Amino acid sequence: MKKILITGGAGFIGSHVVRRFVNKYPDYHVFNLDALTYAGNLENIKDIENKQNYTFIKGDIVNESFINNLFSIHHFDGVLHLAAESHVDRSIEDPLSFVKTNVIGTMNLLNAAKKQWEGNFENKRFYHISTDEVYGSLGTEGLFTETTPYNPNSPYSASKASSDHFVRAFGETYGLPYVLTNCSNNYGSYHFPEKLIPLFINNIINNKSLPVYGDGNYTRDWLFVEDHAIAIDLVFHTGKNHETYNIGGFNEWKNIDLVKLLCQIMDQKLGREDNTSEKLITFIKDRPGHDLRYAIDATKINKELGWKPSVTFEEGLEKTINWYLNNEEWLRNVTSGSYKDYYKKQYS
Ligand code: NAD
Ligand code: DAU
Repeated sequence: MKKILITGGAGFIGSHVVRRFVNKYPDYHVFNLDALTYAGNLENIKDIENKQNYTFIKGDIVNESFINNLFSIHHFDGVLHLAAESHVDRSIEDPLSFVKTNVIGTMNLLNAAKKQWEGNFENKRFYHISTDEVYGSLGTEGLFTETTPYNPNSPYSASKASSDHFVRAFGETYGLPYVLTNCSNNYGSYHFPEKLIPLFINNIINNKSLPVYGDGNYTRDWLFVEDHAIAIDLVFHTGKNHETYNIGGFNEWKNIDLVKLLCQIMDQKLGREDNTSEKLITFIKDRPGHDLRYAIDATKINKELGWKPSVTFEEGLEKTINWYLNNEEWLRNVTSGSYKDYYKKQYS
């Protein structure tokens, strides 16, 4: 039985990856390591918590001796590293916690994997899950490819860029077998409502204002989270060592157009009159250092590994909105407590 460590598996993307691996690979034992920060939630993976090939471990990747111990006890064969501080707005308020988790945490995992595997890297793999934000901002033209120079603009993207560099450096210097992916904006179920799509769905449900940063003319490339999990599975199993793959949705939307689409769909689903939710749109002070546009060229993963998104944006958004409408209790639970303080600080 292969032992696979997945970090950040109680978060948004991690929960989809853990679910996929536990269900699809009964001959793997999946260890889900997560600190359960504000973004981690065991409710996200409740459906697999009693599976025989699954173990949850609560722990912090910043704790070096804890990580070293964990590797020496379990002798993992593979690591899929998703744990991170992931929200740009929070990184603007508290950059140091992003350095701790995203840079030092990644470093601890790299060191532990190197120590454990040194001398026999065969059939071992360290997979680092990263973001397209490391490339900085595009103008109105062009796409990010795997050779686009790094040019991060936010403390979040700078910390992710730094972790990417360390992963590559461990590959070059010590021969650590790694793969790395840089993905565009995800959306789907279990997405914490601090990010644009779930935040706006929640606010529409509750008739709260929809805070659009600046003029709303910022563009993102949206990918359904389950398609990201499929890509991660494929890269983990068939990606080439020491290679980077970009993953994207071929699906660019200006924020304001996306928000208007959400309003329309939600009005229909909630049985509200046309344009009810659009009236909630409020343009507010822009995010500092706001990147104008992200868009991924996913040709490499498509040509070399045969991946492409399996659902259209229409289908993905429909599934996502339905999920939030059917899981209001989940939404209520994650928006109580500290979320209220965060919201007040960020938007008032
Ligand atoms: P998320 O914020 O939803 O989840 C992060 C998880 O990591 C949480 O469960 C949290 O408890 C855990 N965590 C945080 N700090 C930790 C620590 N010190 N030790 C152990 N666990 C810790 O994030 P997400 O959106 O699911 O993103 C997952 C990964 O994918 C991140 O590395 C992110 O950079 C990357 N990514 C995200 C997107 C996106 O659109 N969300 C796109 C591309 C790449
Ligand atoms: O591109 C991948 C990245 O996508 C991931 O690496 C990050 O972890 C993830 O958070 C996401 O980053 P963004 O900053 O693009 O996502 P966010 O949902 O925060 O914002 C999307 C766009 O919407 C962005 O242009 C800012 C805008 N926005 C966001 C919020 C939260 C608003 O206008 N109002 C808001 O309240």
